[in-house]
Amino acid sequence: MSEITLPGLVDVHTHLRVPGGEHKEDFATGTAAALAGGFTTLLAMPNTTPPLTTPQVMEEAFQQAQADTRCELGLFAGASPEQIGQLPALAPYAVGLKIYLNDTFGPLRVEDLPTLTSCFQSWPQEKIIAMHAEKQSVAIGIGLAATFNRPVHFCHISRRQEIELIDFAKRRGLPVTCEVSPHHLYLTQADAVRLGPLGDMRPLLGTQDDVDALWDHINDTIDCIATDHAPHTLEEKRAASPPPGVPGLETSLPLMLTAVQQGRLALSRLIELMSTNPRRIFNLPEQPDTRVDVDMLPYRINSNTLLTKCGWTPFDGMEVIGQVRRVQLRGEIVYEKGLSIAPPGSGQMLS
Ligand code: DOR
Ligand code: ZN
Ligand code: ZN
Repeated sequence: MSEITLPGLVDVHTHLRVPGGEHKEDFATGTAAALAGGFTTLLAMPNTTPPLTTPQVMEEAFQQAQADTRCELGLFAGASPEQIGQLPALAPYAVGLKIYLNDTFGPLRVEDLPTLTSCFQSWPQEKIIAMHAEKQSVAIGIGLAATFNRPVHFCHISRRQEIELIDFAKRRGLPVTCEVSPHHLYLTQADAVRLGPLGDMRPLLGTQDDVDALWDHINDTIDCIATDHAPHTLEEKRAASPPPGVPGLETSLPLMLTAVQQGRLALSRLIELMSTNPRRIFNLPEQPDTRVDVDMLPYRINSNTLLTKCGWTPFDGMEVIGQVRRVQLRGEIVYEKGLSIAPPGSGQMLS
């Protein structure tokens, strides 16, 4: 197998930094990186500056995204106690609602029960709720999904205790789904020491036992692979109090294809995790005449050839298998041999 063809991949967890963080990434550079990584649909997170919690900021971000995106793109609205009454007005611009229950980059956080309850009561039923929930916060999310009988998607699950609880919940028939990020499948606390700030993200890298538990559930409990592409500049990462987060759009597919090559994952399962399941869970449209051609040859990940504006990766120098050669989106060649061809604004907005 020296060349394979995949459907357009979907990343349900990307940080594109507009508004306020355009020096890290913007809609045009982030979606170029997406195409280079085989993704033709992205869902972007709301922890921007200011965050996507008011109709005005949300509408402006939507319009900027429409002008700049090179692939299909949807935005998450953000939940905040101060703007909780605005949720219905945010919904027309959003594919889902993101609730942050634990500390991470930026101030967006929900820490009180009345706000959480309002989210479940006033966010439109047909649009999904996604949560950044770690450790016992996962139990809060499962309890709310059960109580209000509506789907909850857990972002970047990283620990044995979390994936095992979600496994229990699913066996009980509760409407929960989850994603795992490749850095949590490939790196441990030992790598965090080696990488320093370039290996710092939320959730933190886990133990080998956590990593083993994630791989043990790759064929059942895990629904999606999501990049959690979280670009920060090298200058920011090397400063005092570096922000957490690592880029991932251009390394996730080769890392997962390397697992396929090693016999840890079936190619058909990779397609479910990176395309079929995300489309179903987030109710995203099919993309006709869309394909990703990949050379199944070994190569070394190289920070210097990345299209993301931040220009680095914690996987620099790693040998992987699977390089995206060409991407066709709705009949047009949008990426070929290292070059993003799709012009800004040629992608479609999802809402
Ligand atoms: O490491 C992280 N960085 N985790 C998150 O949840 C947010 C992200 C960011 O926005 O940089
Ligand atoms: Zn998060
Ligand atoms: Zn994130």
